[in-house]
Amino acid sequence: MTDTTHSPRVFSGVQPTGTLHLGNYLGALRKFARLQHDHDCLFCIVDLHAITVPQEPGKLADQTRHIAAAFLAAGVEPDKALVYAQSAVPAHTELAWYFNCVARMGWLQRMTQFKDKAGKNSEAMSVGLFDYPVLQAADILAFKATHVPVGEDQKQHLELSRDIAAKFNRDFGEPAGAPDFFPLPEPLIDGPGARVMSLRDGTKKMSKSDPSDASRINLSDTPEQIAKKIRKAKTDTGGVPGEADGLEGRPDIANLVSIYAALADIPEAQVLSDHAGSQFGPFKAALAEVAVEALRPVGDLMRRYLADPDELDRIMSRSADGARALSEPVMSDVRRIIGFHGSAS
Ligand code: TYM
Repeated sequence: MTDTTHSPRVFSGVQPTGTLHLGNYLGALRKFARLQHDHDCLFCIVDLHAITVPQEPGKLADQTRHIAAAFLAAGVEPDKALVYAQSAVPAHTELAWYFNCVARMGWLQRMTQFKDKAGKNSEAMSVGLFDYPVLQAADILAFKATHVPVGEDQKQHLELSRDIAAKFNRDFGEPAGAPDFFPLPEPLIDGPGARVMSLRDGTKKMSKSDPSDASRINLSDTPEQIAKKIRKAKTDTGGVPGEADGLEGRPDIANLVSIYAALADIPEAQVLSDHAGSQFGPFKAALAEVAVEALRPVGDLMRRYLADPDELDRIMSRSADGARALSEPVMSDVRRIIGFHGSAS
C-alpha cells in the first residue's frame, strides 16, 4: 500500500442483482475476508447501482440481505468490517452529484461496461446506467478509501475514480487548501480468480447475466450441481499440459486451471505439475472435489444467515450508522471546499 498521505482504508461493493457466482467469490468476497484482519474495511451492498436497470421493488430488500449473508458466509466479520446497504447512507448520492459536475462526458463515453450493457440501445438506457461509474467513485471517496478489492472487469471504473479524485483535488486545490484532499484509490486485483471465465466459453467472463446457468457456478448451487457443471465444462481433446506454455490458445483449459489454483490456494504451476498429462475426466473430478470442499461451507453458512433476516438487518443497520459517521466529516469538508452557503467553518 503506497499512499502515505491518507491512512489505508478498504472499500468495495457488490450489486444485489441475481445470485452470486464463483467469479464474485474469488474476484471480490474472498479478498474481503482476508483484508479485514489488518485494514479498516467497508463492504457495501450497492442497491443504488442495482436500480440503474429495472428491479422488482418487492425483491430488492431480500436481494440486499442475500448479498449481506454472502459477505458474512465468505468470512467477513461484522465486528471487524462494516456491511451495509448503500441506500442507507446519503453521502453516496450527495457526493455522486458533486462528482457529476467534476467528471467529463467524454470520460464516461469511453466506459466499456456501459457500451457492453447498452449495446446498440444506448439511447433507451437510464441516465443512471451511464452515470454508474461516477456513483462508484463517490462510494469509494465518501470514505477516502485508498484500496478497492475487485475483479479485473472493474479496472476501468477504478481508473475513472482516480481521474475524478485527481480533478477534484486540482479544481478545488490551493488556495482553497485541498491539493491531496482525496486519495487516488488503488484497485486490488491480483492472483488467480481476478478474472473467472465462463465454463461454456473461456473467452467470456463468468457473469450473472449469461443466459446459460451451466456457464457459471453459483454460490447457492448444491455439490451435485457444482460437480455436474464442472463435468460438462468445455474442454478440448488434449490433456492437461505440464507447463504454462501449454495453455496458450486454450482459454477453456486455462480457466479451469486458474479456478483450481484459486480454490485450492496453490500456484497454477503446481496444478499443472500435479496433473501433467492427465485427461480431462479425472482432472475435472479432482477440480469438482476441490470446488465442492471450498464452496460447501460458504453455501451452508449463507443459508444459516438467511434464516435469520432480523439479525442481518441489525448488522446492516449498525454498520450503516458506522458508515454515516465516517462519511460525515468528509462530506462537511467537501461542502466547505466547494463553497456552499452555510458550510464555512
Ligand atoms: P458486481 O456486483 O457486478 O460484481 C461484484 C464483484 O465481483 C467481481 N466479478 C468478478 N471477478 C472475477 N471474475 C468474474 N467473472 C467476475 N464477475 C464479477 C467484480 O469485479 C466485482 O468486484 N461496479 C461493481 C460494484 C461497485 C463497486 C463500488 C465496487 C459499486 N461501487 C465501489 C468497488 C467499489 C460491480 O461490478 O459489481
